[in-house]
Amino acid sequence: MKKTAVAHTNIAFIKYWGKKDSNLRLPYNGSISMNLSNLYTTTTVEFSDQFRHDSVEIDGKEEPMERDRVIAHLGRIRNLKKVKTHAHVVSKNTFPSGTGLSSSASGFAALTLAGTAALGISLSQRELSCLARLASGSACRSIPSGFVEWVRGDTHEESYAYSLYPPDWWDILDVVVMVRAEKKYISSTKGQTVVTTSSFWTARLKQIEKKIIHLKKSLQARNFTTFGSIVEAEAFEMHAVMMTSTPALFYWLPETVLLLRSVRLWRSEGISVYATVNTGHDVHLICEKKTLPALRQKLKHIGFWKQSIVNYPAVGAYCTDQHLF
Ligand code: DP6
Repeated sequence: MKKTAVAHTNIAFIKYWGKKDSNLRLPYNGSISMNLSNLYTTTTVEFSDQFRHDSVEIDGKEEPMERDRVIAHLGRIRNLKKVKTHAHVVSKNTFPSGTGLSSSASGFAALTLAGTAALGISLSQRELSCLARLASGSACRSIPSGFVEWVRGDTHEESYAYSLYPPDWWDILDVVVMVRAEKKYISSTKGQTVVTTSSFWTARLKQIEKKIIHLKKSLQARNFTTFGSIVEAEAFEMHAVMMTSTPALFYWLPETVLLLRSVRLWRSEGISVYATVNTGHDVHLICEKKTLPALRQKLKHIGFWKQSIVNYPAVGAYCTDQHLF
């Protein structure tokens, strides 16, 4: 059977950085995110006895590293049904992969939904989220809709993501600004293995539960200033942990720093915009919809970046009949 699914990537407001169980991808802390309307993956999966081996095509190419990860996940899906049937997988992103825009989140969420559907396995949203998590932690947050919380959990079944609010809860935007078309130099998976070497890591863990509660309150109250301040400070905290790990991980480029400094300047001029950065150098500018025209003007003026994509809060993963082959 052939099935196709679409999943949007997500931006974390409270970050996932570090696993207490790397096989099960159980995180040290819970996290909170929003699905992004214009950054998504479409994936078609077909299982057939005619296939001699698994084949994987991502954005028209066979990427060896991603291919192994995809095949490992196909194995997890096959295990649920105790079959050995091979699959053909074709996947397309609306954005470049491997640059820190979380293509693994949307990619593995789409693969989880299309793969299980193609084998006729029916799972609840929570079960899909747990399964997606095994392939990439942040993928579990791309299964539910809108504003999402990933509950840390201490077992496979307890570590899942659910929707806090639907996409129309709040008119906030994530303007992703790509500063250079360059791949990040160390993957999130590899980077996370050194998290405990940072002396800031224990300090981070000590207060993260409180931070999650504060962020959820500001989301509920739609208090943008409080929300934005927490989001930006959280991103800097994660990068401080990265920079103080052994080996030190430094993802920012000069343009990243320039943009982060510009955001502070714009705020002092009354433009309410906050920034967050994932593993990588691109900057996510978070603002309310009403602020977009002023932000566009500012971006035009500085002009050293490559491309920007405006994202609204988006739905969770879903199946479609628009197959890729
Ligand atoms: C900085 O989900 O890509 O974007 O589980 O190893 O696949 P793996 O890691 P991944 O890590 C995402 C890290 C982050 C923060 C976040 O999205 O919460």
